[in-house]
Parts: sequence; structure tokens; C-alpha cells
Amino acid sequence: MGIIFNESSKEFHLYNQQISYIMKIMRNGQMGQLYFGKRVPHKENYDYLTENAYRPVSAYVYEDEYSFSLEHLKQEYPSYGTSDFRMPAVEILQSNGSRITDFKYVSHKIYGGKPKLEGLPATYTEADDEADTLELLLRDELLGVELTLLYTIFQKENAIARSVRFENRSKEEYQLTRAMSLCLDLPDKDYEWIQFSGAWGRERYVKKRMLQQGIQSVGSTRGASSHMHNPFVVLKRPMADEFQGEVMGFSLVYTGNFLAQAEVDTYNVTRMMMGIHPLGFSWCLKPGESFQSPEAVMVYSDQGMNAMSQTFHRLYRTRLARGYWRDRERPVLLNNWEATYFNFTEEKLLEIAKTAKEHGVELFVLDDGWFSTRCSETSGLGDWWANTDRLPNGISGLSEKIEALGLKFGLWFELEMVNKDSELYRNHPDWILHTPKRHTCHGRKQYVLDFSRKEVVDYIHGLVAKILRESKISYIKWDMNRNITECYSLAAEAEREGEIFHRYILGLYDLYERLNTEFPEILFESCASGGGRFDPGLLYYAPQCWTSDDTDAAERLKIQYGTSFAYPISSMGAHVSITPNHQLARTTPIKTRGDVAAFGAFGYELDLAQLSEEESAIVKEQIRFVKKYRKLIHQGSFYRLLSPFDGNITAWMVVSEDKKHAIVAYYKVLNDVNCEFRRIYLRGLDASLCYHASRNGKDMGEFYGSELMNIGMVSSDSSAGQPLEVDVNELCTDFWSQIVILDAQE
Ligand code: DGJ
Repeated sequence: MGIIFNESSKEFHLYNQQISYIMKIMRNGQMGQLYFGKRVPHKENYDYLTENAYRPVSAYVYEDEYSFSLEHLKQEYPSYGTSDFRMPAVEILQSNGSRITDFKYVSHKIYGGKPKLEGLPATYTEADDEADTLELLLRDELLGVELTLLYTIFQKENAIARSVRFENRSKEEYQLTRAMSLCLDLPDKDYEWIQFSGAWGRERYVKKRMLQQGIQSVGSTRGASSHMHNPFVVLKRPMADEFQGEVMGFSLVYTGNFLAQAEVDTYNVTRMMMGIHPLGFSWCLKPGESFQSPEAVMVYSDQGMNAMSQTFHRLYRTRLARGYWRDRERPVLLNNWEATYFNFTEEKLLEIAKTAKEHGVELFVLDDGWFSTRCSETSGLGDWWANTDRLPNGISGLSEKIEALGLKFGLWFELEMVNKDSELYRNHPDWILHTPKRHTCHGRKQYVLDFSRKEVVDYIHGLVAKILRESKISYIKWDMNRNITECYSLAAEAEREGEIFHRYILGLYDLYERLNTEFPEILFESCASGGGRFDPGLLYYAPQCWTSDDTDAAERLKIQYGTSFAYPISSMGAHVSITPNHQLARTTPIKTRGDVAAFGAFGYELDLAQLSEEESAIVKEQIRFVKKYRKLIHQGSFYRLLSPFDGNITAWMVVSEDKKHAIVAYYKVLNDVNCEFRRIYLRGLDASLCYHASRNGKDMGEFYGSELMNIGMVSSDSSAGQPLEVDVNELCTDFWSQIVILDAQE
């Protein structure tokens, strides 16, 4: 691994064993992009990749020639209007009205390790030899603004992390109106674009299309990364699939408004870009002030999408997530939300918790409705003290009783919000984001606190920290149930109103950071009406996230499958809930619900006392299974085998690092009659090892890894085209699932 600067050719080559990233200082002093992809040898000169040509109607930089046009040069951090007409990475509004910029190379630094990004989540290293970093300092002489492009290449991962930092070293004031975290000009457009889009209850569905000339983009302008689009996109070669071919993944470590965009020009050059969404964004750079962009992570794979996902999984699980819970086995939890909604008493909660404990649950989580006047969604948000009518001994008393049952205790908060019917709002009506003299929209009868203001964050911190200090709390579910409208802070100067969306997110990160630091052993799970903020930014503070409010097993297949493209299995909160399911009114077997949720941070979302004896026995078995295998499931290599977006059968598997153990799960959504014989081709096993296979505790025999991967695992079921001698319990039904355990023979 290394970063080399070739003095003669003015080229930088960032490389590890698998990938290369090459750029150069162009003739005009700006940075040009030459290559990103599979590792190539180091050479003094890759200048033949600087392609330029005379093309009529283009604009040229130098009077004496017709070749140097930024429109046709691949660049690192382009600007608009000075011979490049594509969307720029940067735009700065100046006092004379001009937006033209010209950032030229000044100097660079290369060092081992990776610096922190002030106030922002980012990947990190634990030792300097894990990664190398290049800082490129550029300057616009006329403006006196400096720009640092930061690149970190990881030694063992095919990943490069990028971000940018602006510093105003002049005496002038500027408005930064666009500051992308990443820009990558690729030489052709022969890619399929994959985005992860949806809505509440159907987050991160896989959507594909071929890149076309023009702009294609996804983004969020809601103040949150959102249910609708995820700050993650994939570009893959059309022939690439899950296991082979060239794939690039682009991920933004950010929780707020974002834009991910590919602009294909009419010469078929693709400009990929990612960063804070420019709509509504501006950042006032007064003399001496600076702006740090969020980090973007690019992953390259020449072995298909699974390899790309595994890189993101390892990187985000071990070098983005942090702290006490990063590598620890996550507790099996039971959350009371779907069991009681707002309708509970302390007695009822203790009953639910007691039954949970009897089944093997380790953590009881009290959801919404425990504080102030909060008995419905209309009041109390913001007043973070216990409702003593419901909880006579407060949260501390309840937490002690839960711990006395032998369970850990967790609590729900929605710290960024306020109901108008609350003491907080009555005392501080000016603390919500709203535009003076204009109507303010509500969402779920709640308003968004102005987290761009430190005093607001301090106040909320004071309340929540008090409860955490006084009670035995091991887990926090951090919810957020509406998007930002009329974004405006009463505390900001007019020229800073464009900063509020981002400053809000900085306030959110600050509160998380303070609570993480003060309560390092609390496990945080983020949530935003389910998966409305499932993004890498929050994984830095909360290693797991409630994947979706939709707990139906069949729907969850799609949601968890889509989420797995970028996010580790350990990060996906996944619970078994009651049937008929509360989102879809669908009934699925409890076994299937468990087999789906087991591939996540596992828990329950129901009162286990409501189950039949048979179901209750299944739950006990599920919990035993999860406790035994959660480490393997969370820390092993995850392979997607069959997609719920392509057919009736979904399959995935995990393989331990030493390849001696694996778990295969397959799910049939609708039963099919007299259907074909089936095989599932397994992946990632050791071809030479002989594995003992078992299903539902029953022996299936011994198979070599090479058999299971090349011949496939026979998965024909009772509905295949011949009568099978099967146990009646194994008869196929709708929403049917099977889990196969593979253990290598000694
Ligand atoms: C939305 C969350 O996604 C649910 O799980 C639950 O916590 C409710 N909010 C509570 O209001």
C-alpha cells in the first residue's frame, strides 16, 4: 500500500494490492483525474490518459491552442463556467456576483493513518499502517480561499475515503453554495446505476437502470437521509453480477440532505458526484472561517457486488462503528411498542418483561409514551421526565425492577422534536425551526427543535443525561419521526440561514458524541420512523439502526436484502412481531419471522404471553439459536445468493472468517405446487473442507465445500415435482423458510 508522487509527471498514485487511484496536476495547476479501478503497476507517467481533443464549439483555456478544454478533461474537483459546462463540485458566490473559481495545486502531504474530521462522523484507523492519507492543498489566489482535498486509501480494503475542507484566508466574505464530498470523472458510461429507494415501510428497494446521457440522481432535501433514497449508489458494468465483474459503490457518511448524481456528457464521460445537496445549502465563509464536508467512501470490486458489500460491511462494522458495542454480541431485546403502543402501565410492562425473560430475552426496551403527558402523539415531546401516573417509581424505579428480573433496560427518546403541547414549547416557542410570519407545517403533530443552536442541544442534553445518570439504562432507541420544513433559525444571521440544515445535523452529531462519551457502555440504536435515517453517518454513533417499521417477514426480505448492499448485518435492527402483522395484516409463520430477523440485530416487538404454547417453544428455540450464532451472523462474510427482487425465493448465507462454519437461509414467499427441483449454489466456503450439514437440528449429511458451491445444495422441498418423505412440520407453506448449518469436519 502506498501513495506515490511522481515529481516529473506531477502524478499521484494511491494504491493497495487491489486498487489504484491516479490523478495529476494539470497544465493549468488544477487537479485532473486519470484512473480509478483495479491495481495497475506504478509508472513514472500515465499522461497518455489525459485525453483532450479539438472539438468545435468548446471553450479553451489557452489563447495559443485548441486542446486544453476543461469540458473534456477528467477532473478531481471541477468548477463551472471556465470551459467546463458540466455540474461542478464547487461553487462560491463572491461579493461582486461572480461564481468563477480556479483552485490550483499548492502543496501536498502524505502520511500514515487517517485524520479525524472535526464534528463529523468518518471512518478511522486504529494504527497508522492501516491506511495512507494524501492531503492536497489547492488555492484560488484571487479569492484567497484554500481547499484541501483529503484522500485515504485503506491497506486491506478496496476503499478510498474522501472529503474536502475550505478555508477562507482572505479579508473578504464568501458564500460557498456547493461543496461536494466526491467527484469522479469516469471515461465511459457503460454502467448500470443502482439506487436504494422506497418509502416508509419499504425502504431501500433495489432499483436499477442503465446510465444515459444527461443527469441521473437521487437525493434528499428533507433534512434527513430519508426513507425515500439512501446516500449510497452503485455503478456496475452491465455483465457484472453478485459474484463477478466490475462494481463501484459510493457512500456518503452523512445523515442530512444529500445528492448522489451521475452526469453523462455527450462524449459518454460519466461524472459521479456525491455530497451535501446544494438545494437550500450555502455556507458563509467569513475571513478566517472554514467548512469541512462530510466524508464519502468509494469501494471498488472486480468480483461483483457481494465483494463490494463485504468491503463496506467490514469497513463500516469495524472502522466506522465505534466503542464498547462495536465487536460485542448484541443483546436479544424485546420492545413494547407493537405490544402496547401508548397504552401501558408499569404493571403491564413488568408482566411483558417477565415473560420475555422466561423466553431468554436479555434486554427490555420501553418505547414511546413513558414521559410527561405523552399518552398519544399529540403532547409531551420535549419534556424528558417520567410520567409518574404511569410509572410511579419513575424510570429509575422501573429500570431497577427490570434489572431485578435479570434483564437489561432500554429506553426510547425522540430528542430532536417537540409537541406544541409541552412545557418545552410553552417556555421556548422560538426553539423550533420555522420561518417568521409564515405558517409552520407539522408532522405527526410535532415540530423540529433548532439543533443548530447550542443552547437547545445543551438543554436536551441536560434532561437526557440526568435520566441516564439516575437510572440503570443500557440501551437507547433514538427515534426521529418527521422531516424539516420551513428551515430557518431565529438565532442565525440572514447570510447564515443556508447553513441551518447542515448545522442541525452537526448539532445532532454533537449530542450523540456527548452521550457516547459520557455513557460509553450504552448501546444506541438509531431510528427514524423505521429506516428513515439508515445511513453511515449515524452508524458512527449508533452501531445499529431500526431497519424499518415494517416487520412483516416477506417485506423484510426485500428491505434487509437491499440494506445489505452497503450496511453490515450487525447494523440492521430486526424484530419478530405478532401476526396478523400490524403493517400489512399478513400472517406468516413465527419460524419464518425468526429466520428473517436472525439476520439482523435480533429482537421481538410483541408480548410473548400472547403466543400459543407451540409458538412460545419456537421463540425459545429462536433465542437459543441467535445467542449461539449471532457472532457468526454479525461478523462473518455475508453473501446474497438469490434476490427477493428477482423471484419467489430469497437466499443468503454467512461464512465465518476461517470458513469452518456457515449458515445458509432460504425463504420461499409463496408456496408453489409441483414445481421444479431446486439447488442453491453456495459461496465463500473452503472447497476442500468437508462440512456437516443440518437443517432444523436434523442431519443432512456431509458435503465438500466444492460440492456445495459447484453442484449446489439441493433445496427441493415438499412441493417439488415428486412426493418427498417429509416430516409434516417440514411441509412447505406460503412464507416458508429453512436454515442450514454447516460445520467443517475436524
Ligand atoms: C416510530 C418508530 O419507528 C417506532 O418503532 C416507534 O418507536 C414509534 N416511532 C414510537 O412513536
